[in-house]
Amino acid sequence: MRNTIDLDYGLAAELIEEIKDDPMGDWFDLPDGANQDELAKIKEVARKVQENSDYLVCIGIGGSYLGARAVYEALDKSTDDKTKCKLLFAGNSLSSKELKKILKTLEGKDFSLNVISKSGTTTEPAIAFRILKNALIKKYGEKEAKNRIIATTDPESGALHDESLENGYETFEVPLGVGGRYSVLTAVGLFPLACAGVDIDKLLEGARHCKETQLSLDNLEDSMLVEYAFSRFYLYDECGCDVEVLAHFEPSLVYFNEWWKQLFGESEGKDKQGIFPASVVYSTDLHSLGQYMQDGRRNIFETFLRFSPEKSPLTVPAEKNSKDGLDYLEGKPLTEISEKALEATLKAHDTGGISTFVIEVRDTEAEFGISELVLGFLIFFFETACAISARLHGVDPFDQPGVEKYKKEMFKLLGKPGF
Ligand code: PA5
Repeated sequence: MRNTIDLDYGLAAELIEEIKDDPMGDWFDLPDGANQDELAKIKEVARKVQENSDYLVCIGIGGSYLGARAVYEALDKSTDDKTKCKLLFAGNSLSSKELKKILKTLEGKDFSLNVISKSGTTTEPAIAFRILKNALIKKYGEKEAKNRIIATTDPESGALHDESLENGYETFEVPLGVGGRYSVLTAVGLFPLACAGVDIDKLLEGARHCKETQLSLDNLEDSMLVEYAFSRFYLYDECGCDVEVLAHFEPSLVYFNEWWKQLFGESEGKDKQGIFPASVVYSTDLHSLGQYMQDGRRNIFETFLRFSPEKSPLTVPAEKNSKDGLDYLEGKPLTEISEKALEATLKAHDTGGISTFVIEVRDTEAEFGISELVLGFLIFFFETACAISARLHGVDPFDQPGVEKYKKEMFKLLGKPGF
């Protein structure tokens, strides 16, 4: 389906300026890498953790962990033999079973904790921190345990800030002008990723490249980012599409989907409006949600991610006396077949009346097409598009009053003093 919209570039420029000037808009400057001292400290502490720990447990929820997890999984660091220090993620649920699995993994291993909470009072990570801190003290004793706790939190106040100060934990700041879901390019994301051996300079370089190519105010007419932000609002406002589905063919990007959903869901879903962010991983979901995408209610639009193909892909092997009807694919790389599946899906969904948007980010040097450069680009791309889009909806992209509501109700039920 083709929609023609007139993009208002003057309005786009105004919105970008507004976002930059917003007290919570400091994430916009992060790609410029102004805080070199902080970056140097991140690398230095990460080196120490790599030397003394097999695992770093990242304790946080929502924006305090999803960015790091998205990049870590996308780069396949958990299965890479070269990863000196693997990451585990805790404090994002209240499941005792999940936490027991983490404790089991840590048995007989060296580990450190990175507790990440801007407010310092979020219940889920606070509980996980207590439990894991106990395990840390049991293994190393109180003094050494304190050397193995790194807190990333508000620079001025809060329970975690105060505890860190009292116990002399190593600390990193969540800058006051950066909210959780916009914080992956601060120490919130960069520190654990550096521990796992991710090239954080390249991540920032990718974000910088996005900023330079997509947000230069005298060249907005060529910006895919502005086109995307305005088109999704147009599809919502004019065509009744209130669901956006992020789609790609890369299983390693499952957590990138989660990060993306949190970014858009918490930023836009306010005042009884906003586009509901959903996601699929094809081909898996072509055999489940694919039916709905093709034939279900037409209130959906789809945003595809497309990457450079892997450099040395598997190919379909030859087989004597084959019965599987695959001989016509003999010798073909899986990347080529996957690319055809993507084109076919685009065509099929187009004829099914779905508006599609393709975001193509190519790093031709990267072995797997998905690299730090690509991820940095996409992170900044979606953060900015989301902030512009939320402004078009007339809502504040940087608050989350709805999330606070459940916390208050839970505190009441649990009998927290003062609630
Ligand atoms: O994006 C956000 O602001 C939220 O998702 C927070 O990151 C999340 O609620 C965790 O908050 P905190 O870092 O204060 O523990």
